[in-house]
Amino acid sequence: VTASVRPATPADLPAILAIHNHHIRHTLAIWRSEPADLAERTIWYEDRIRKGQPVLVADAAGVVAGFASYGDFRTGSGYAGTVENSVYVAEGWHRRGIARALMAALVAAARQAGKHTMVAGVGLPNPASVALHGSLGFQEAGTLRGIGRKHGRALDLMFMQLDL
Ligand SMILES: CC(C)(COP(=O)(O)OP(=O)(O)OC[C@H]1O[C@@H](n2cnc3c(N)ncnc32)[C@H](O)[C@@H]1OP(=O)(O)O)[C@@H](O)C(=O)NCCC(=O)NCCS
Repeated sequence: VTASVRPATPADLPAILAIHNHHIRHTLAIWRSEPADLAERTIWYEDRIRKGQPVLVADAAGVVAGFASYGDFRTGSGYAGTVENSVYVAEGWHRRGIARALMAALVAAARQAGKHTMVAGVGLPNPASVALHGSLGFQEAGTLRGIGRKHGRALDLMFMQLDL
C-alpha cells in the first residue's frame, strides 16, 4: 500500500490522536506523560487551520499512517518567518518513506507561505528523527542539555534547522 499526503480533516483527528498518544506513552518524542483527548486535539487542529498552518496526513487506502504539521516557533513578530515542525508515523508504518513524503509536502507548504526557516526540536536520543531531518537538509544547530524529563530520565533537546 502506498500513502498519499493530503490536508487533514476533522474526521482524521481520532487517528491523529491515537498516533500522538502512542508517542506520549512509548517514545521520547513528546515530553508529557498524560494522554491527550479528542477535545484537546480538536483545539490544536482548529488553531493551526485558523492560522493557515498546514496539518497533513499520509493516507494509505483510508488509514492514517502518519501526520505532520508546523506551528509558530516562538511568539513575537520577529519570529513570523520561522516555524517548528512535527512529524509522527504510526506503529507498523515505519521505514516506508511516510515521514519523508510528509516532510516534503510540509516544506513545500512552508516555502509557499513565505517562511524562511523550519526548526525541528528533537528530543535525544532519537536517531530516526535526526537521520530523517538530516536527510532532508536540516543542519544541527545546538543542543540544550537536560532540559526535559520523561520516563524518569533527564533529556536533551537538539535543534535542527532548514533554511527554506
Ligand atoms: C522519525 C520518524 C517520523 C521517521 O518516520 P518514517 O516514516 O519511518 O521515516 P522514512 O521511512 O520516511 O525515512 C526517511 C529517512 O529517515 C531516516 N530514518 C528513518 N527511520 C530511521 C531509523 N529507525 N534509523 C535510522 N534512520 C532512520 C533514514 O534516513 C530514512 O531514509 P531511508 O529509509 O531511505 O534510509 C518515525 O520514526 C517516528 O514517528 N518516530 C517517533 C516520533 C518522532 O520522533 N518524531 C520526530 C520528532 S522531532
